[in-house]
Amino acid sequence: MASTTATKEFLQVIQNRRTIYALSKKTILPDDVLIKYIQELVREAPSSFNVMSSRCVVLLGAHHDKYWGELVPGALVSIVGEEGLAAMRPKLEAFRQGYGTILFFEDQQLIKAQQEQYPTYAPSFPIWSLHSSGMAQIYVWSGLEAAGYGASLQHYGNLTSDALKQQYKLPASYQIQSEMVFGYPEQGAQEKTYNPDHERVIAYGHSA
Ligand SMILES: Cc1cc2nc3c(=O)[nH]c(=O)nc-3n(C[C@H](O)[C@H](O)[C@H](O)COP(=O)(O)O)c2cc1C
Repeated sequence: MASTTATKEFLQVIQNRRTIYALSKKTILPDDVLIKYIQELVREAPSSFNVMSSRCVVLLGAHHDKYWGELVPGALVSIVGEEGLAAMRPKLEAFRQGYGTILFFEDQQLIKAQQEQYPTYAPSFPIWSLHSSGMAQIYVWSGLEAAGYGASLQHYGNLTSDALKQQYKLPASYQIQSEMVFGYPEQGAQEKTYNPDHERVIAYGHSA
């Protein structure tokens, strides 16, 4: 049970961070303030040996609209066909209704360099890179929540990665991890169930 102001506030933010699909384009922060904020959130995310391999590309305005309105549907149609795409359209359109999308990448060039520098840990670095990405993602997701945004996490990057790299001239070594769609939260989160805490966290010993 959190007792200090800081722990209560921290818990409140992470309890409020939920998957929100109903988003709109209403402005919360000016774009320059928002980008600076996202930079600060990513800057503080830990990574193995402080490799700082996480990279983000923030799509706003027409770039966000194009991603969900053209790029993703264009990639999906070749896999699911016109009928399949028609069924997915409302979902994609809901993402397009949001304010922006943050694309999360991990720079594999840095991971490869780590493997060369520390061969003992070579098999672990790609795994730790995924952990680091998750940490950057949760910082950003929670940070967006604290600023009043809603967000959801999506994974269409395996279909769009090549086109994104071409369009935004991204290094070939950038490996896409996820897309975080965010915007003004027009509705709350869906109900969520929790397993008992004691099943997930156990403790041994006593300090006093
Ligand atoms: C690693 C990971 C991958 C996820 N992938 C997706 C996804 O592709 N699409 C989606 O709508 N939600 C995705 N989610 C969101 C989860 O479904 C959601 O976090 C979970 O149901 C708990 O709900 P909450 O976010 O409201 O706490 C993902 C979450 C995590 C942590």
